[in-house]
Amino acid sequence: MSELTVLVIGSGGREHALAWALSRDPGVRAVHCAPGNPGTSRVGTNHPLDPMDGAAVASLARSLASDLVVIGPEAPLVAGVADHVREAGIPVFGPSGAAAMLEGSKAFAKEIMEAAGVPTADARLCVSMDEVVTALDEFGPPYVVKDDGLAAGKGVIVTGDRDAALRHAAGCRRVIVEEFLDGPEVSLFALSDGRTVLPFEPAQDFKRVGDGDTGPNTGGMGAYTPLPWAPPGLVEDVVATVIQPTVDELARRGTPFVGLVYAGLALTSRGLRVVEFNARFGDPETQPLLTRLKTPLGRVLLAAATGTLADEPPLEWGSGAAVAVVLAAAGYPDTPRRGDVITGAEGEGVFHAGTALDSRGNLVTAGGRVLAVVGTGDDLTAAREAAYAAVAEVSFDGAFHRTDIAQAAAAGERTKER
Ligand code: AMP
Ligand code: GLY
Repeated sequence: MSELTVLVIGSGGREHALAWALSRDPGVRAVHCAPGNPGTSRVGTNHPLDPMDGAAVASLARSLASDLVVIGPEAPLVAGVADHVREAGIPVFGPSGAAAMLEGSKAFAKEIMEAAGVPTADARLCVSMDEVVTALDEFGPPYVVKDDGLAAGKGVIVTGDRDAALRHAAGCRRVIVEEFLDGPEVSLFALSDGRTVLPFEPAQDFKRVGDGDTGPNTGGMGAYTPLPWAPPGLVEDVVATVIQPTVDELARRGTPFVGLVYAGLALTSRGLRVVEFNARFGDPETQPLLTRLKTPLGRVLLAAATGTLADEPPLEWGSGAAVAVVLAAAGYPDTPRRGDVITGAEGEGVFHAGTALDSRGNLVTAGGRVLAVVGTGDDLTAAREAAYAAVAEVSFDGAFHRTDIAQAAAAGERTKER
């Protein structure tokens, strides 16, 4: 039964969760991670590697006799690392550089959505401050200004302050100014083999750094699944109106999307709208989602990589809930402090992101989002309790976290009502 050798590229919390879920798949014989982190070394074998070097990734995959390569982060995907692996004849879960532009350029994503008839915020691409001023005045407050390129979740400002919107725009090369979307946000992931898509259950991510959705945007401070407040038929609706048309449009252009389509959605008073696409598993949604996924992960990722998703049954999920709380380092999301010693991070459900081993072998902080701690339970209330109890076991100087992840949903409310 154990057959697959899988190589996971990346070193964040999502890669730790991917490696962990792959290691639990009875069809997977060996999990390798490159470069990985101290967490992935608990569930697989780490290899030093520059994940941006496509030739090096393909060569490592070959030397390990990998049956499947899974590329976690957006930067190597946009840089075309998956193309190198595919050219080497090795199945790869992760889009080509051309298809990853769905995340790599917000302007490209808007062009695809327009061509595919996918609902999204009305937007203007601006290349001068004059154009920015015109667009801000056209849409009015609250102002939404986005850096066109990759910015690790921090390239977006949503503000009522026109001067702050202008300052953010001045720091970007090409900016998108767009209409404000009201309503709660949902993250929906779907596997794609270029033609067929297989959706996950929805999750919700908390992007702002502070409790009550205050402070600047981050890569994500916590997440939970399922969403008890989600309207019935949401997943089918998003697949039919957003994900399948997007995948079809990319295929029509000769750049099929093989990998994970992440649709960031707003359920607005005027209906469903796409906020953004990512071209890979979201972080920290991946940690609670993979904790609940019952379908063996290696098998479905390989089916996506080899074009056989149409033969796969729907994904299966555990009946309970899962909540992830991110422990961040002092200073995040600006310049996080590094090198603080971490204790209590050994438990199941503790996923490493910004961690490293120092010269004495201590586990230390090495990035802004240090750990994502996942708790599970029969419902969101129980899963929150488990997550926050596990958070209390972990400590490092300067650690902080949000205390309200999944709180409103557990209390039976819709969240992020704006
Ligand atoms: P993005 O990187 O495009 O996902 O944006 C990061 C976050 O900014 C989103 O998760 C939303 O919370 C917020 N945001 C982005 N675009 C809009 C919009 N048009 N209206 C309201 N909020 C937005
Ligand atoms: N959780 C949002 C992201 O992965 O970009």
